Parts: sequence; structure tokens; C-alpha cells
Amino acid sequence: MDYDDFKQMSDYIKSKINDEPEVAIILGSGLSGLAEEVKNPMKISYEKVPNMPKVTVEGHKGEFIFCDIEGKKVLLMSGRFHLYEGHKPDVLRILPYVSKLLGAKIFIATNAAGGVNLSFKPGDLMVIKDHINYSFSNPMMGENIPKMGDRFFDMSMAYSKRLIDILRQSGKENDIALKEGVYLMYSGPNYETPSEIKAFRILGADAVGMSTVPEVLAARHCGLEICGISCITNMAAGILEKPLNHEEVIQTSNMVKDKFVELMKAFIKKL
Ligand code: HPA
Repeated sequence: MDYDDFKQMSDYIKSKINDEPEVAIILGSGLSGLAEEVKNPMKISYEKVPNMPKVTVEGHKGEFIFCDIEGKKVLLMSGRFHLYEGHKPDVLRILPYVSKLLGAKIFIATNAAGGVNLSFKPGDLMVIKDHINYSFSNPMMGENIPKMGDRFFDMSMAYSKRLIDILRQSGKENDIALKEGVYLMYSGPNYETPSEIKAFRILGADAVGMSTVPEVLAARHCGLEICGISCITNMAAGILEKPLNHEEVIQTSNMVKDKFVELMKAFIKKL
């Protein structure tokens, strides 16, 4: 994908919303509840947007929702692209790049993840402090687009300390306990083996999932201020004596919905 492809997408969306979002949020599996709570949503199905691939995962709708949350203009993205769907890696630049081209300054990635840290429980929310790219892929491979960012870019402070502090405060003020940790991305589509999870724990991972890292790389490339939140939907493979499945992931994230919506609203209000 080249600059014109991304520009065409954002131009199409701009022609529909006629306004600039300040904050862009990708809603992970089962976390689209935030989209149901907002006032005056203006929805644009991904299908209508030129150059946009299809969203294939259950629990992911595939729409941009431009709306007001706590007085801020927000672009929600309900549905994302995953490497395991077979997309070329650069497709995973779409949501951050389009957010940037629409004028957003802050980029929030949310996801469902397995708990690798043994002190976590299903239903916990984890603020992502850093990530490990264990996907063996990178959306930034290929020709660089200088209009979006530099060929070589820094990842030493990818997750904004400022935003992490605001998340901590929002949690405290609303009695929402927050974990903090490192998110490791595995390509999927299978859940990991127990041995992989043991290895990831040794590597320093607290949570594991199949998304977010490519989007954060592209968001960092184009200079967005980033934060990430994982909903721990299950303990990762081998911790409990039971197999993992997508229904459990969706069920737990639905249970956490109210807490997640409250946290996001409190956070956005403070931005
Ligand atoms: N592993 C990978 N991805 C996930 C998991 C998991 O245990 N839970 C939710 N997404």
C-alpha cells in the first residue's frame, strides 16, 4: 500500500464526517461496548471505504464510528486486521495511518489477551507498558513512506508515560484496579502451547495476544501518542487444566464491558 491508498481512505472518511477526531481508539474483541454508549455516532462501514480489506473475525464489526465522548471528538474503530487473516503486513498500517491523516493526535489500542503473569485473573484490565514483537513480522517492512515517518524510528518510549499516568489516575479515581505489564504478540491463529507460554514468561511477557503490536508500530512511525489496554480474558495455555476457546474470550470481555467503558470515559475526560 502506498501513501495515495491511505490518503484515499482518509479523504473518503473526511468527506463523510467533516470534522477532525482528537483521539482514535481501536476496540478489541468483545470491547465494542463503548460504541454502543456514545451520543450522535456517525458510522462508516469499512466496506464502503476505498482500498479497505474485509474484516473476517467474529466479534469484530468493521466500522469507523465518529462520535463525542466526554466532550472530545473520538474516532472508534470497531474491528481490526490481523496477520493470521492472511493480510500483507502493511495492511495493518491502515487504522493508525488513517487516524493520523484524519488529524488524531492520540491513538489507543485495546485488545483481548491471555494472562501470562500468574498473578493476573480473567477480567483484569492491564495497561500496556511495553511490548515484545514475537510475530516474526512487521507492518513497516517494505518501502518507507517519508510523509508518514522516518525509515528508522524509536520504540524506546512507544507507550506514552503521560497517558499511562492518566490511565492510572482514572483507575484510582473510579475504583477500577489496573494491572500493568508487557504485551507479547504471537501471530495466531492458534492459541499458544503451554511451553510457548512458559518461554514467553521467561522473556518478560505478562499478557499474550494476536494484535496491537503492528498497529502500535505504525502509530509510532507516524508520530501518534500511544497507549494500550489489554482485557485479560483467560489465563494463557497450560496455566489452568482446560483448553482455550474464542467463546470464553468474548464472554469475559463482555463481562468486563462496563468497567472498560467507565475507564475509557474517565480517561478521555482527562485528556
Ligand atoms: N492467546 C492469544 N491471544 C489471545 C488469548 C490467548 O490466550 N486470549 C485472547 N486473545
